Amino acid sequence: MVEPIRKSTREEREQWLKEAHYNLFQLKADQVYIDCLTDSGTGAMSDRQWAALMMGDEAYAGSRSFYDLKDTINRITGFDFVIPTHQGRAAENVLFSALVHEGDYVPGNSHFDTTKGHIESRKAHAVDCTVDIAKDTQLEAPFKGNVDPEKLDKVLAEHADKTPFIIVTITNNTAGGQPVSMANLKEVRKIADKYGKRVIFDSARFAENAYFIKTREEGYADKSIKEICREMFDLADAMTMSAKKDGIVNMGGFIATRHDDWYEAAKKFCIPFEGYLTYGGMNGRDMAALAVGLDENTEFDNLYTRIHQVEYLAKKLDEYGVPYQRPAGGHAIFIDASRVLTKVPKEEFPAQTLTIELYKEAGIRGCEIGYILADRDPVTRENRFGGLDFVRLAIARRVYTDNHMNVIAAALKNVFDRRDEITRGVKITWEAELMRHFTVQLEPLG
Ligand code: F0G
Repeated sequence: MVEPIRKSTREEREQWLKEAHYNLFQLKADQVYIDCLTDSGTGAMSDRQWAALMMGDEAYAGSRSFYDLKDTINRITGFDFVIPTHQGRAAENVLFSALVHEGDYVPGNSHFDTTKGHIESRKAHAVDCTVDIAKDTQLEAPFKGNVDPEKLDKVLAEHADKTPFIIVTITNNTAGGQPVSMANLKEVRKIADKYGKRVIFDSARFAENAYFIKTREEGYADKSIKEICREMFDLADAMTMSAKKDGIVNMGGFIATRHDDWYEAAKKFCIPFEGYLTYGGMNGRDMAALAVGLDENTEFDNLYTRIHQVEYLAKKLDEYGVPYQRPAGGHAIFIDASRVLTKVPKEEFPAQTLTIELYKEAGIRGCEIGYILADRDPVTRENRFGGLDFVRLAIARRVYTDNHMNVIAAALKNVFDRRDEITRGVKITWEAELMRHFTVQLEPLG
């Protein structure tokens, strides 16, 4: 599907930003020239997906589209039990309602904010066990999304009796779209087995993860993406899925598992929260399009084209010297704002400030994946400045051309060239208690 985009003037953008309280989520999409806010639900569906959409079966119960989707998921993952949900966080909500309780510990690799939110809102602890090298943005390493086995073992040694499961996010979005190696997934499995624990994959970008295993990990070059996916999921007990990413649909998600006790437990929450078991939160037609999307996006050529576009943008940024989490991630480039706006103190949110500057420069909408998104510590209520402060430029699947990448890179270069003139950031004037980044209101300082 092709859509028109519209240019605007700097004066218009300054006014719109003010009206949006300097939070780019509050902009109208028509006020954006190139939208890199997210790769979630923004991909273009293929001819076969649109055709499948017309064939959707909207039966309330037992829809043919559900069984087609279930068969596809089973073929790719090996999981027998499937619960459709309206998106990824709904899958988390349904499954975690059954599994996560007050005082629990859920170790993982940089839990996504909704995942962390669904754990912390149940008064449980999301313990980040990501490898330390993920914090060194300039280090070139193939699998910076990995779980640190020692950190994981330590959490389990202390809290195994209060650990309902381990969650591994593939690819690791918050650390920069960085992949997790097969060797690491095997290590996690070993540690889980040692303590008798189950493993969930937060699988939003599992196909991109498989692509990186194929292209970067020894022994996988000759395996197909589908073979690699199956080998990955063989190491897990269940998955939560935001189908809006690697399923290439605009809305949808699911839970899948090999365990009937988890399925039975989750079922009880699916019906009141999402809907009857054979549609959960989805239309029949959307399930039909998702089945095709999953099949298409677990083919090498599709992934190669997509990931190369992200790499193309990275190479342009290399030319201009703009620092980002290296190597480029699967779905996005994560600009290391602390290395760009070195004069803006962390208390004034450098990444959010850079996001604002990039929008003012060229109408490009990025997303802060940094100190604002990190929320406050649930106990001390202090801002969490311990992580990385990124501007994420997410690339929609099958939407933009490499020429759009050139425009993004040129705009960033312009901001980068005047980085030393930017000395003040923003302050928060209103925020929600959880997942504040969507609705936070800000004011520029200085
Ligand atoms: N897990 C990961 C790794 C995600 O990136 C997301 C969403 C979710 C779970 C939740 O899925 O949006 O369908 O409810 N990430 C989007 C993003 C919003 O922009 O990265 P959802």
